[in-house]
Amino acid sequence: MHGFAYQNGSLHCEQVDLQALATEHGTPLYVYSAGTIRDHFTRLDEAMHGVDHEVAYAVKANSNLGVLRLLAGLGAGFDIVSGGELFRVIKAGGNPAKCTFAGVGKTREEIEYALQQGIYSFNVESEEELRYLNQVAGELGLIAPAAVRVNPNVDAKTHKYISTGKSENKFGVDFEAIPALYDRAAAELPHIRLRGLQMHIGSQLTSIQPFIEAVEKVTPLALSLKEKHGIEFWSIGGGIGIVYHDSLAAGDMHWWDAKSAEERPLTLPQYGEALVPRLRDLGLKILLEPGRAIVGNAGVLLTRCLYEKKGTAKTFKIVDAGMNDLIRPALYEGHHEIVPLTEPGSERRKVDVVGPICESGDFFCQDRELPDFQPGETVALMSAGAYGFVMASNYNTRPLPAEILVDGSTASVVRRRQSLDDLIAAEL
Ligand code: LLP
Repeated sequence: MHGFAYQNGSLHCEQVDLQALATEHGTPLYVYSAGTIRDHFTRLDEAMHGVDHEVAYAVKANSNLGVLRLLAGLGAGFDIVSGGELFRVIKAGGNPAKCTFAGVGKTREEIEYALQQGIYSFNVESEEELRYLNQVAGELGLIAPAAVRVNPNVDAKTHKYISTGKSENKFGVDFEAIPALYDRAAAELPHIRLRGLQMHIGSQLTSIQPFIEAVEKVTPLALSLKEKHGIEFWSIGGGIGIVYHDSLAAGDMHWWDAKSAEERPLTLPQYGEALVPRLRDLGLKILLEPGRAIVGNAGVLLTRCLYEKKGTAKTFKIVDAGMNDLIRPALYEGHHEIVPLTEPGSERRKVDVVGPICESGDFFCQDRELPDFQPGETVALMSAGAYGFVMASNYNTRPLPAEILVDGSTASVVRRRQSLDDLIAAEL
């Protein structure tokens, strides 16, 4: 489920009227539902019942401190990709000992910081990085817990920019090269503790098949590394896809049951049913690194229509959010439902919804049949909780939007809107 629905004709997040939020806090405005985040986390946790596991939320999807604090309170671990994300997790009350650190380009400063904070594991992406980690840990007189990311060469069948598990991607170490790398590390790198194995094949996967394929392919490798090097965990990564099409309607049911969705999403129970029997008897702790599945449908971006511009070929609705606020349509041809805050009738008009940025790629939809809305009205871009605000920028010197976390009937500002002074505060 997600927490967004029309109540008495106006769109609410849980018990809070979104128009009231837009009026009070202005637009563009990100709004998140705490209840939805809790629900998704708990359901994924339950779907893995029977397996010794930990859900390590992928911080990159939404790193607002309020969101991280909520997840820390639920007992989540965290998958981080930078020193900055580790800093956020700690500030939000998360436990560094439950953090895994992924990414192909960790710097010395980041490695030192993470070592000093005592993270659970460095998920290493190359032999060069493993050797460097050994060197830095040695210089600090510490032992670095590490897992190598295996690239299983499995096709995730998702957008090419978010597919990571093929050998032509920059991520991980080739499947065939892993055993010898662990042997060399055990023999030559005294400041490394080989603690686990990691993989991640891509994001927004809407079918279970690639997950099964990857798990089946890598299982013998994980078992032999456990046997030979005593590894204790296997992270199977994130990537569970969500409903983007018809996502408002899908909220009436559990989103993973949505039959109306164009994309048949991978459901959490399906994920559990397929993977639990394959993972439960391995004697390894299984880590999951979901980002989008936890927060994607838990957030919307509210934006106000500024102008309607009727061209000869098209009608443009110009709104006050731009690609700098939500870049997914421009970057991945991402689809976000656009719904008025007042429940619409059945009439539809074909329009482009575009932002104010000086780029032709600055659109939220093109030639889409939408309920009509007029200048002055606010609409919601749905499913914007993951890779929304975190990918926002100040392009065109536009202040970053505010973020609101709703819990029941309470709405908290978890990030204030940037001011014009904020925009230049770091410049000398
Ligand atoms: N683990 C690793 C190593 C990852 O690289 C990622 C995402 C995740 C976990 C979490 O994946 P998720 O469960 O959220 O699919 N900005 C893109 C998505 C980029 C994903 C990058 N890696 C988008 O907006 O679609």
